[in-house]
Amino acid sequence: MTDRYAVFGNPIAHSKSPQIHAAFAAATAQDLRYEALLAPLDGFAGAVADFVAAGGRGANVTVPFKEEAFRLATRLSPRAARAGAVNTLVFSGAGILGDNTDGAGLVHDITRNLTVDLAGKRILLLGAGGAARGVIQPLLAEAPAALHIANRSADKAVALAQAFADLAAVSGGSFSDLAGLPFDVVINATSASLAGEPLPLPTGLFAPGCLAYDMMYGKGETPFLAQARLAGAARCADGLGMLAEQAAEAFLVWRGVRPATAGVLATLRAALAG
Ligand code: ATR
Repeated sequence: MTDRYAVFGNPIAHSKSPQIHAAFAAATAQDLRYEALLAPLDGFAGAVADFVAAGGRGANVTVPFKEEAFRLATRLSPRAARAGAVNTLVFSGAGILGDNTDGAGLVHDITRNLTVDLAGKRILLLGAGGAARGVIQPLLAEAPAALHIANRSADKAVALAQAFADLAAVSGGSFSDLAGLPFDVVINATSASLAGEPLPLPTGLFAPGCLAYDMMYGKGETPFLAQARLAGAARCADGLGMLAEQAAEAFLVWRGVRPATAGVLATLRAALAG
């Protein structure tokens, strides 16, 4: 019987996950069906329970349910426990395993697709919300020289840094603290571009050869990447690669095989440009 998977979100109609997982299933000859399911804002747990009762084997979770999925899980992977959020669920007789593949997806995109080694690098993470929190542990696992978190509300960046202080030296502060500090990799995990607002980045932030990475993506250059390019970032990448890689990582969790992403990424990129 065909195994069933789904992505839950609200809204969900424009999710690219069904297309990505259908491509992965075809490429790896896995017999599965993956659909997008709209969960009511006040009915996430019920929607998941219905899906499990109907034979669902696993699910992805997107906005706004990642924290609720974290609470719903009966067991958490260490990376999900650190992230405080869950984007991947595995259903079995043993209960609901909650995992988080966002950080692994980001790291995979940077280190494999963009071939930027993070070991020994000075990394700046912009933002201190859920998106930022979800990627910190996997970034630290790459052994960077430093990881600094900057946020509009500095206290949130400081608190987030403290939450990971047992793993490595992580610091946090405001945007104005960044003056005179060059970084090798600058990652945007804020939602500032949704509000159409530029980030208050000081000059000299991008070291020679610096990679600017926006966890967001869209048609054309994102506002952050436009800002970074003008400020001297040598390389710019948006989050489409992260989207494909977090999906590949979830597929690995469910099916034990990690699909190649180059083909699906090219298709997604062409669709965005079209
Ligand atoms: P997400 O789940 O996408 O991380 P979130 O938890 O609401 O969403 O966090 C949004 C992040 O974007 C926060 O770091 C927020 O900064 P504050 O903590 O100061 O609110 C940041 N952000 C949103 N709009 C911003 C803007 N216009 N300028 C700078 N930072 C912004």
